[in-house]
Amino acid sequence: MRTLRLDLAERGYPIHVGCGLLDDAALYRPHIRGRRVVVVTDARVAALYGARVCAALADYQPLLLECAPGEASKTLDTYATLADQLIDGRFDRRVTLVALGGGVVGDMTGFLAATFQRGVDFIQIPTTLLAQVDSSVGGKTGVNRPGGKNLLGAFHQPRCVLADTATLTTLPRRELVSGLAEVIKYGLIADGEFLAWVERDLDALFEGDEAAVQHAICRSCEIKAAIVAADERESSQRALLNLGHTFGHAVEAATGYGAWLHGEAVGLGLLMAADLSRRLGRLPGEAVARIAALLKRAALPTVLPADIATETLLDFMAGDKKVLDGQLRLVALDGIGKGVIIQGVALDMLAAVIDATRAPQAD
Ligand code: NAD
Ligand code: GLY
Repeated sequence: MRTLRLDLAERGYPIHVGCGLLDDAALYRPHIRGRRVVVVTDARVAALYGARVCAALADYQPLLLECAPGEASKTLDTYATLADQLIDGRFDRRVTLVALGGGVVGDMTGFLAATFQRGVDFIQIPTTLLAQVDSSVGGKTGVNRPGGKNLLGAFHQPRCVLADTATLTTLPRRELVSGLAEVIKYGLIADGEFLAWVERDLDALFEGDEAAVQHAICRSCEIKAAIVAADERESSQRALLNLGHTFGHAVEAATGYGAWLHGEAVGLGLLMAADLSRRLGRLPGEAVARIAALLKRAALPTVLPADIATETLLDFMAGDKKVLDGQLRLVALDGIGKGVIIQGVALDMLAAVIDATRAPQAD
């Protein structure tokens, strides 16, 4: 097991990464202050891992709550149903919530923990690659609205993160691919050598090689933890973590949440961000081609379907959380491994970037 730390003074916490951590009661115990825990998960993950986590938490009379799997569940309705179950169960402020699942469960449980009784403790047990490299770390929580992704939410840090790599053995390949988009993102914004490692070791990652998987998770979490420690509430540099996300969130919202997996939309968004950087004279064309080639090898989408209108995407982008005083802030690349926050990009240029992804990219 490797343990990293997110340094946020009294709200700092460990991120444990290793094989078989789910069953280790000693890893949970130091982070539970009261006598009861509620494990929140989705139906698919409940069937796979719910009983094991409840067994490890047997001393805390665990209650298991389930929602339906997938992005379509990340709603105020699901949040309210879960909240009512906590209220009906007469849980008090000393309850610890345990988010067992992917980013959907993690974001929604975190939001529930941020708001139930004005805030209770929670622990993240991410079971998708995407959640292990990204969503379980950093304290962004929330739910979607028809008008945009994650528009209701709160910053609320977990008490610890337990990333059990063994859970990835049951993850469908499409979900693994989705998580790779965020891994590639870290290389692009902060570490060119890490990106080159992903290019070299992509096959090992697909084969589930333990050393490769742990390296991908640990390096991703290291990069994220350093950025979040320096700018927890995204007043500046944390926005770098959103490379490709403004485009990607628009694709997710425009397609009704769920048709595109989050990482698939981010993958296409990474290509759009790279093309935007090229048009702004910040990134050479060869670097864009290199990114497109990696996304294709990773089986991430590189082409926008014809039925998603450019205007629709631009509308959703205008409602993004990174709009400040009417100005859209975006993340571009000043070379591989160097993200930069920019604003004032002309709508025409954004439309051209979106339109360009409709045609197949050159190899
Ligand atoms: P997800 O939570 O929907 O999980 C994907 C699917 O995999 C679900 O059907 C789930 O039941 C299944 N699953 C989960 N673990 C499994 C396992 N071990 N074996 C088999 N099946 C398993 O999706 P996700 O990709 O994990 O998360 C996407 C969400 O994360 C999005 O809502 C996105 O906005 C959010 N996100 C949040 C942050 C953040 O900082 N808070 C960062 C990135 C993404
Ligand atoms: N996923 C973006 C962030 O955590 O800031």
